[in-house]
Amino acid sequence: MTVSVRLDEVHKVFGRGEGRIVACDGVDLVVPAGASVALTGASGSGKSTLLHMIGAVEAADSGRILVGEDEVTAMNRRELARHRRGVGFVFQRFHLLSALTALDNVIAPVLPRKVPFDRAERAAELLAAVGLGGRERALPSQLSGGQQQRVAIARALIGSPRLLLADEPTGALDSATGTQITDLLHALAGEHGFTMIVATHERSVADRCGRIVALSDGRIVNDSWTNERTNGRTDGLND
Ligand SMILES: Nc1ncnc2c1ncn2[C@@H]1O[C@H](COP(=O)(O)OP(=O)(O)OP(=O)(O)O)[C@@H](O)[C@H]1O
Ligand SMILES: [Mg+2]
Repeated sequence: MTVSVRLDEVHKVFGRGEGRIVACDGVDLVVPAGASVALTGASGSGKSTLLHMIGAVEAADSGRILVGEDEVTAMNRRELARHRRGVGFVFQRFHLLSALTALDNVIAPVLPRKVPFDRAERAAELLAAVGLGGRERALPSQLSGGQQQRVAIARALIGSPRLLLADEPTGALDSATGTQITDLLHALAGEHGFTMIVATHERSVADRCGRIVALSDGRIVNDSWTNERTNGRTDGLND
């Protein structure tokens, strides 16, 4: 299952008066179905805001966001809830529930839903797929950062997302573990076919995506394929 993403003239402003912040300033972007794209740019450039609007966690002020044929910016509450179920989110700080086991964390998103599969069975399969077979009963506090992020990735996948949005997925990890997590995300994207948008400060993570879209003050200032990248560009990436 896969889906394209399209943004037309998307704007988002936070606050008003002196405190007014333009977080997204007329973004046009097309991500073909099945592609993976990195979003880069300095802190505050609008990466998370863009992901939140695509995932319908936050509403755009104006412009259009289409995911496949579905116009997110024209959805009612019920349609938004349905849209969100087709999107997997992975965050920098994992956001696991500390009182729940790895297995129950993975199950959590589908707990209130009718699903055509056995939840615990599917969750165990996904934990095995991310390299955590045998750790189903572990609590987050008993897992390393990389292992916790693997649980979070399995959790993001349990609803069979059409689209995976990852916000600094390696930001809290050392570079070797970050590379493993990046490899895992791309392997899963290849296997499951979902479209992937990854916000990152890390060049190695961005380079793994076929394409890098750089933001500055809520605008796209560069859009290039990894192998076209020129040296010396200010793209907010750490080497
Ligand atoms: N809920 C909010 N209320 C007010 N301002 C916000 C809110 N969310 C984001 N902003 C502002 O919007 C701008 C863009 O923020 P955003 O979080 O999208 O940046 P980012 O590129 O993800 O940064 P970082 O690399 O630090 O995660 C920033 O100036 C931020 O302070
Ligand atoms: Mg952010």
